[in-house]
Amino acid sequence: MPQPVCYSCALITGASAGLGEEFALQLASRVDKLVLVARRETLLRQLSERIRVLHPAVEVYVYAADLTDPGEREDLVENLILRRFIPDLLVNNAGLGDYGEFVTGDWTKIRSMLGLNIEALTHLTHALLPAMIRCGHGAVINVSSLASLLPLPDLAVYAATKAYVTSFSEALRIELKEHGIPVLAVCPGPVHTEFGQVARRGREGREMPGHRCFNVPKAQVVAEALVALDSNRARVYPGLKTAAAALLIAALPIVAIRLVMGLRPRKS
Ligand SMILES: NC(=O)c1ccc[n+]([C@@H]2O[C@H](COP(=O)([O-])OP(=O)(O)OC[C@H]3O[C@@H](n4cnc5c(N)ncnc54)[C@H](OP(=O)(O)O)[C@@H]3O)[C@@H](O)[C@H]2O)c1
Repeated sequence: MPQPVCYSCALITGASAGLGEEFALQLASRVDKLVLVARRETLLRQLSERIRVLHPAVEVYVYAADLTDPGEREDLVENLILRRFIPDLLVNNAGLGDYGEFVTGDWTKIRSMLGLNIEALTHLTHALLPAMIRCGHGAVINVSSLASLLPLPDLAVYAATKAYVTSFSEALRIELKEHGIPVLAVCPGPVHTEFGQVARRGREGREMPGHRCFNVPKAQVVAEALVALDSNRARVYPGLKTAAAALLIAALPIVAIRLVMGLRPRKS
């Protein structure tokens, strides 16, 4: 096992639930300061309280914001400077899915997905990297998905946003090599969080495929992600089955992927 790297301040987006909450809990033992960002302030405050009890020395800054709003992102960055919470670890975790045919999807939700999964992640990275480069220390974790490797019917826009995240992370990693700032793309398969519920359209609709047999606990996803970061790896597919699926997908030609995706059970 590699030595855990410590950071002065970690900012985690989407910290009110699921993987983001877990990142906050697992990172608390190796940071001086934590910034927890999401829209639901009550949940963030409850998490902050838990961390204060478990790690009294850690300073926690709770910041409620809708990250799809560029103005709220600017305000967040300004407030970080004012409060002297300058992240040297950025965990771009907040993300949103939409399960169903593209053409019948709600445009507002599609726009939020593009805004959160792509624009917010890119904007925060752009805003926070210069300080990391100046101090010569830092890291970026971008939470992508196994879906980033596949064109996925019924998750077409979601999978495309995650393809962006994986590609962006790989290219940025090369650009930042000379500065010693690692970039990691975390590519989980299905994980039981609020994600599936949020991705569903209304009350109707079946569970997303793969959620029963491929599920990896969120604690394992985050633990494997942090080991991968400490080992300076470019990507991690947490869980054995997910890692095996990633290897298989990478070995398949696009014609085979088209065939398999065409045979995959559809939502309706
Ligand atoms: N769960 C899976 O099966 C799975 C698989 C592969 C990849 N992932 C990726 O893992 C990441 C975390 O997802 P999760 O599974 O933990 O989902 P989750 O339980 O639904 O959590 C999503 C988090 O994002 C926050 N969020 C949503 N919209 C936001 C907005 N407009 N502004 C700020 N924060 C917002 C939510 O907080 P608020 O609602 O309080 O704002 C919540 O904290 C995502 O990027 C997802 O794509 C998940």
